[in-house]
Parts: sequence; structure tokens; C-alpha cells
Amino acid sequence: MEIKYLGHSAFEFNTNGKKILIDPFLVLVPNYNLNNIYDIFVTHAHGDHLGSAVEISQKTGAPITAIYELANYCTKKGAKTADIGLGSWRDCSWGRAIAVPAFHSSSTPDGIYGGCPCGFVFEIEGQTLYHAGDTCLNSEMKVIGEIYQPDIVMLPIGGKYTMDIEHAVIAAELLGASEVIPMHYNTFDAISVDISDFERQIREIGKIPRILKIEE
Ligand code: NI
Ligand code: MN
Repeated sequence: MEIKYLGHSAFEFNTNGKKILIDPFLVLVPNYNLNNIYDIFVTHAHGDHLGSAVEISQKTGAPITAIYELANYCTKKGAKTADIGLGSWRDCSWGRAIAVPAFHSSSTPDGIYGGCPCGFVFEIEGQTLYHAGDTCLNSEMKVIGEIYQPDIVMLPIGGKYTMDIEHAVIAAELLGASEVIPMHYNTFDAISVDISDFERQIREIGKIPRILKIEE
């Protein structure tokens, strides 16, 4: 399986040629190729996460997996959807994913309530990945670490609306993953960080910081 960073909190997982998109806010990758997208996951309704999910679903036929209220919103906008609640597994041809709690807010760009925000744990090709969405540091991460034992975690580090670097380092310890991919930083001024601080602090706790460039 390959993980590609698409900027902000957007990622592509590629498993045997099937592409799975998470939080497809793709303004930083305007020429992104939409071929072979099988599934789209959206952690919450904010525009920098919902991104162009509806348009991508319409173009590709891939369903958007999201919390009930957000899935309903996407259905009304013309997308194919799979609605879920927290704790709900979705079994897919490439593996499975479960929605886990995130502590944040969730309303659509046009102001409609988006249900609760979430993160996702993915099981793909024997690897477990956790995408935290937008969230603060919270004790659910200890539970996620114990139950799912993620290998790789994607954590927001930009502060202001989410965890900052200091709290992301604590989250990485709670989650127990060996590799940590930072996200939700330096996209705009309010969430700018010195990424070398993240790199140093993650190394100090014996984990591997994977700082991905856009499209890496
Ligand atoms: Ni948000
Ligand atoms: Mn956000």
C-alpha cells in the first residue's frame, strides 16, 4: 500500500491500484488524477475537509463515507454516499474502516449542521492507519492505541483549530504508532508551524516523523 499526501489533511491510499481518498481538499493538487478512486472518506463538514468530495463522487461514482448528517448533505448535493455513525465499520473490497471520535465542530460551508466530527481507523493489507481528522488531544487516542494498535498515524499539528505539535507528540505516545505523519499545518497563516520542531520532538520519543511533501 502507498500513502500519498495531497496537502492539508488530504491523503490518497493506493492498494493494488485502488485509490481511497480522505478529506479531499485538493486545491494544492489542481491536476490530481481522479482515475481508480473507489472510496472517499470525509472526517467532518468543514470546507477544508469536505473539499471537492461531492464533485469527485459525481465524476467517479465513488461513495462518500461520512457521519449520518454529513452523508445526507452530500446525498442532497448529488453524491453517492455511505452513512455511518461513530463505532461503525465499513467493509470494503480493499479492507475496512471504522469511524472513531474526534473533538471538534462540523458544519458545512453553507452553514448546515454536519453531525459530529470523526477520525478513521483503516485496516488495509495488514496495516492499520489512523487519520485523526481535526481534533484536540483526547483520551480516546489511548483507547484507539490499545484496541487498534495503529502502525501509522496522521495527526493535525497546526494548533488554533486542532492539536499543536506539543499535543501531537503526546497523542503519538498514546497511540503507540511507530510512524507519525503531520497534517493540517502551514496551509494558511493561522496554522503555521516550524516543522523541524515536530521532527525533533517525534524523534525524541523514539518514533519516525514522516514529513511528506505535496504529492509525495
Ligand atoms: Ni475543521
Ligand atoms: Mn480543518
